[in-house]
Amino acid sequence: MINGILFDMDGVLIDSEPIILHAAISYFASLGLSVRKEDFTPFIGAGDRAFLCGVAEKYGLAIDFEQARDELFSLYEEYAMEVGPLHGVHRFIANAKKAGLKIAVATSGAPRKVEINLKSIGLSPSDFDLVVTGSMIKRNKPAPDIYQLAALSMGLPTQECLVMEDAINGIHAGKKAGCTVCALTTTFIPTELFEAGADLAVTSLDSFEDFSSVGMFNQQLESMIGEDDGKITYGAGRILPASGVMQTREQLLRLAIGEAYAKRKNAYAPYSQFKVGAALLSAATSRVYSGCNVENSSYGATICAERNAVLNAVATEGSLGIELLVVVSKDSPPAPPCAECLQVLAEFSRPETEIHLLDTVAAEQEGKGTHLVYTFGELLPYPFIFPSMRL
Ligand code: THU
Repeated sequence: MINGILFDMDGVLIDSEPIILHAAISYFASLGLSVRKEDFTPFIGAGDRAFLCGVAEKYGLAIDFEQARDELFSLYEEYAMEVGPLHGVHRFIANAKKAGLKIAVATSGAPRKVEINLKSIGLSPSDFDLVVTGSMIKRNKPAPDIYQLAALSMGLPTQECLVMEDAINGIHAGKKAGCTVCALTTTFIPTELFEAGADLAVTSLDSFEDFSSVGMFNQQLESMIGEDDGKITYGAGRILPASGVMQTREQLLRLAIGEAYAKRKNAYAPYSQFKVGAALLSAATSRVYSGCNVENSSYGATICAERNAVLNAVATEGSLGIELLVVVSKDSPPAPPCAECLQVLAEFSRPETEIHLLDTVAAEQEGKGTHLVYTFGELLPYPFIFPSMRL
């Protein structure tokens, strides 16, 4: 029986990982060091010291941690005020309070970061029964200490606590502490989350229906963990995400960009001369499927690159959940999927599915040209799904 919820903060309540990465890259740039986003991956969720010093060490740079952290936070505060809470945060917290569940924030981040983050999403520490930060414990995540301390301080056994986590290190910490772990797909793909030991994965706290008692919440949780055995919703379908895939999300994205760029060369576009290449990443297998546009003498019979990629994937796998989609064109700004493609994509996408739009320059060389990233929910906020298929 779950009686308490322990929320990790970054990537659970607020999508702060991109902001902290941006701030950290700016910080190292101010020291004349050009570091990459991937350099930070092993240190996500492991506390600020590991985050900063880990990368500095990799490049053989000696930094003063305290000073570095102050500078990082100044940059961070500047960027953080621009973002809001992740989907469903306020509704879920209101439900949990109404139900009488105890709630805590348990984050490796520093108190100052907690303050900035909660403020930027319209919450304050007093909205929680407890806030535990990295400075109160010796060993950071992936050690179980922070979740053990949070449960203990709330007077609950860890077995009665549900941890909400987005990071691999945090999932390890929650499981080692003896908690049930619900992973959010903000930062890592489902494959990686389940490999780390997550009991279930949801795209956001919005995946939970309203509840008003501890019993109702536990019932809902059990059905989410038990029946679907880790499956998550993509449009009209539920997909069990791939396991055992060793490539990182960044590597898979680069692979998809390469495929979309290569397929664009095969576009059959004698009427418009407008060549498009698309590639998608299948959530079930982490395989990439691609397509190009194929035009027709009867113009309306034209198939766009995106739908070609979708058909390719379904023909091979039989079902589909799209983890991310890449579209390459020579347009400025790079072309988004047309409305007809968006409707087809809705059948197989989550609101959080990333849509990467690149011009050919960006596809040829990382960091050049224009590479825009949207979520599917931004491009089509109100998709139509046939009533009996709504899950
Ligand atoms: N097209 C695509 O393949 N995908 C898009 O995202 C936009 C448009 C194709 C359809 C047609 O062959 C050509 O571009 C011009 O409309």
